[in-house]
Amino acid sequence: MGVVDMALDVESIRSQFPILQRTLPNGKKLVYFDNAATSQKPLAVIDAMSDFYKNYHANAHRANHTLADESTAALEGARDRISKFFGTSESQMIYTGSATEAMNLVAYGWARYNLSEGDVVVTTEMEHHANIVPWQELSKERGIELRYVPVDTEKFTLDYDAMEIAVEGASLVCVGHVSNVLGVRNDIERVIRMARSQGARIAIDSAQGAPHEKIKFDDLGADFLSVAAHKMAGPTGIGCLLVSEEALSEMGPFLTGGSIVKRVSLEDTLFQEGYAMFETGTPRMAEAIGWRVAVDWLEENVDFEEAHRHVQSIASWMASRMREIPGITVFGFPEREEAIGVVSFLHDTIQAQDLGYLLDAGGFAVRTGHHCAQPLMEAMGVGSTNRASVWIYNTMEEAEAFVSHLEAIVSRFG
Ligand SMILES: Cc1ncc(COP(=O)(O)O)c(C=O)c1O
Repeated sequence: MGVVDMALDVESIRSQFPILQRTLPNGKKLVYFDNAATSQKPLAVIDAMSDFYKNYHANAHRANHTLADESTAALEGARDRISKFFGTSESQMIYTGSATEAMNLVAYGWARYNLSEGDVVVTTEMEHHANIVPWQELSKERGIELRYVPVDTEKFTLDYDAMEIAVEGASLVCVGHVSNVLGVRNDIERVIRMARSQGARIAIDSAQGAPHEKIKFDDLGADFLSVAAHKMAGPTGIGCLLVSEEALSEMGPFLTGGSIVKRVSLEDTLFQEGYAMFETGTPRMAEAIGWRVAVDWLEENVDFEEAHRHVQSIASWMASRMREIPGITVFGFPEREEAIGVVSFLHDTIQAQDLGYLLDAGGFAVRTGHHCAQPLMEAMGVGSTNRASVWIYNTMEEAEAFVSHLEAIVSRFG
């Protein structure tokens, strides 16, 4: 058995997630290893959202009555709290519907206003589609040159030598913090230095980084950083884009309509400034309230360094045991110290979909598919993988049960 750092009070953490007590219809106890897709929520988050709907739900920023004031205060109080959690101030945080929408905001709220034909955007082969497709679309629309940094499929890292060349003359460099397929933590500090040396703006997709590492946005030196609340104990339907002051001053409206305007005439519109220019329509009030409680909860219950050691030791142990199972290939190196809790694997004769169902029959929830990272799958020479992803509430006992169940599946069907 691997060494799990017991400093993280996993039992107390688990007890606060009602869903983890669940028994599935087949009588098996749930073992949730699909955290890279979305994390589960502690009761405090669920209760805070329900309390909002029960007691002070009203549309924020629109009326003068008591409920509207309470709702507005909660929405803006949450921005203050969440932005501080990410090491920045509320003026640098734009609420979005998701991490995907945050990346689209970089494309359509910044790049569309600042880049034109021949300008260079750099991204990588390792990215989630959220950090590829917006760039392809913009490239078609604007004639922007799109360069991809390849993945070194032996080391399972970005090819940093190729990146040095790719960033030459670039205007924007967009890189994932942590790969959702491999759990590789990219050297974003190095990427930021490279981009800066070219005078390029830099966007980090931290959908998979923020749940595992304390973000200090102002110290990091990036211009944009995207986050999804639902992957870090918060609700679905909300994320944010953190933006440096300079980059924010270069942005223009993305989605337009109500809430983001100072004055509209039939001829023209005067927009709000700062983050208020980007939050169109009725705000995500319940979601912001839930997310605020999630960051409070994380701060009270989770030391991120201990959490990393906990998650990494479980994933590392799983990967090394799974490599011993006949026919199983584990992709990448979850055993590396800096790797982040993801074990992508395949069996050479049991189809990924079938393996997903067989694992589910034992109560184990894993993701199966291309993980919205088809270019990376292509570089790895596969169409899909099974992916077990670990977070703070998983235990070594769950990992042991998982490996035993996988061994039993393989000996029966392999
Ligand atoms: C690396 C990465 N980027 C972006 C996203 C998109 O996040 P969302 O679905 O919350 O928009 C994901 C989701 O899995 C992801 O793993």
